[in-house]
Amino acid sequence: MDDKIEKIGYLVLGFFALKVASWILSRLWVFGLAKPVDFAKFGEWAVITGGTDGIGAEYARQLATAGQNIIIVGRNQLKLEAMRKEITESSSATVELVRADLSKQDETAKAAETLKQMANEKQIGVLVNNAGVSYDFPEFFHKIQNSAEKLDQLVNVNCASMVQITAAVIGAMSERKTGLVVNIGSGTGDLICPLLSLYASSKAFVHHFTKCLRYEYESYGVHVQLISPHLVSSKMSKVRAGLLQPAPKKFVKSALASATRLQSTCGYFFHDLQHALVSNIPASLQNKLLFSMHESIRQRAYRKMKQN
Ligand SMILES: NC(=O)c1ccc[n+]([C@@H]2O[C@H](COP(=O)([O-])OP(=O)(O)OC[C@H]3O[C@@H](n4cnc5c(N)ncnc54)[C@H](OP(=O)(O)O)[C@@H]3O)[C@@H](O)[C@H]2O)c1
Repeated sequence: MDDKIEKIGYLVLGFFALKVASWILSRLWVFGLAKPVDFAKFGEWAVITGGTDGIGAEYARQLATAGQNIIIVGRNQLKLEAMRKEITESSSATVELVRADLSKQDETAKAAETLKQMANEKQIGVLVNNAGVSYDFPEFFHKIQNSAEKLDQLVNVNCASMVQITAAVIGAMSERKTGLVVNIGSGTGDLICPLLSLYASSKAFVHHFTKCLRYEYESYGVHVQLISPHLVSSKMSKVRAGLLQPAPKKFVKSALASATRLQSTCGYFFHDLQHALVSNIPASLQNKLLFSMHESIRQRAYRKMKQN
């Protein structure tokens, strides 16, 4: 009997060891060894929202280098023009600009109308829903809720604009039976995130919407991918680049390598690893850890404001 239990124990251990090994190997292959994805098979044009800074600007640069013509949606005309200049000088891509403040529903609706028309005239094969806003620093919800402007930004930029802009281009993709939609969520979208409640919840919406759309459009040849990064060094995160918080260039290179190969990923090997570890911590401990981490960032932000 004891022998039998021991054998079952080894079998279970072996099964989990195999699972972990195949998880690690598949990610090492995708992020490190696989050939670059051929984006031309989806079409000639890629749309990137929030393509004027951070992760979105890098998607625009790297998709242009990969041979795509680029449509950048952004709110700041000067930054849009600067991106067009940079990309056209460094690649053979044509760049078109759509100016819209995606926190304003009327401007988003107008941008979506423009993109719908573009999708009827051009082969838009890739859409990256990247534009996003977060809190300035972790904070109790009632203090965020008092700021109508912040609420508009979080709900409209992170959720509503993604929905409207996807609706504008995915129909044409499904008619052509090819396409790639990449929605940028966040590691927080899968975790209980005290003091970032509204941001994390807006990202949870992105995650759920992406997973539903994926199955809706699978048989139409349209890939719908969820990228949910942990910390990336940018204007939003305000952290310096390092192994666990890559610069946008490094992050997007790896996220692009995962397109069509991983349906849901953090987009970067060490973030996937971090996510797997954090998700397996018991929820009560996870919540305590995240609360105390965010509370200390909050206290630090208040001290800094007092000094200035
Ligand atoms: N950085 C991270 O650690 C991290 C982690 C998880 C998830 N993410 C997600 O990754 C995405 C990109 O973040 P990031 O770090 O690259 O941030 P970022 O550097 O702040 O860039 C955000 C982009 O969104 C644009 N944007 C913001 N509000 C807008 C509005 N109202 N209308 C139009 N465009 C607007 C910004 O435009 P301007 O150039 O005009 O500011 C910028 O191009 C976001 O969805 C974010 O939630 C980031």
